[in-house]
Amino acid sequence: MMTIEDKKKLLQIAAQVRSQAYAPYSCYHVGAALLAASGKIYDGVNIENAAYPVTICAERVAVFKAVSEGEREFIAIAVVTSNGGMPCGSCRQVLAEFGLNTLVIIGDLEGNILKEATVGELLPGAFQPQDLPR
Ligand code: THU
Repeated sequence: MMTIEDKKKLLQIAAQVRSQAYAPYSCYHVGAALLAASGKIYDGVNIENAAYPVTICAERVAVFKAVSEGEREFIAIAVVTSNGGMPCGSCRQVLAEFGLNTLVIIGDLEGNILKEATVGELLPGAFQPQDLPR
């Protein structure tokens, strides 16, 4: 179980890294901080592109950084924006690949928790690895 302090720490990291967001087109800056079961924290920001659809969200950057370092299990992801925006469908799907129990913590710029939900709650009926016949 994460304590309030654990959650606030994750939100603080997400808020800090948010300043590195590369979002010259939307000007919507997103910071994410992902706590792996190993105890390590991986951050991420949204990275936009002049070819708009190539843009990648902060949440997926954090997950991909972690997975490329060998992580496969996640406890929680904190996401900070100016207005409490929720993870998009693609990010929910990417998170669901690694478990439905990962806690999503949405925070504001002051470090307040605005919303909490598990990935399973955010993506009911998720298509998961076990749905593929082997
Ligand atoms: N964005 C994220 O980083 N995460 C989300 O879950 C929602 C959207 C980014 C993508 C794009 O750079 C900007 O926010 C506007 O859509």
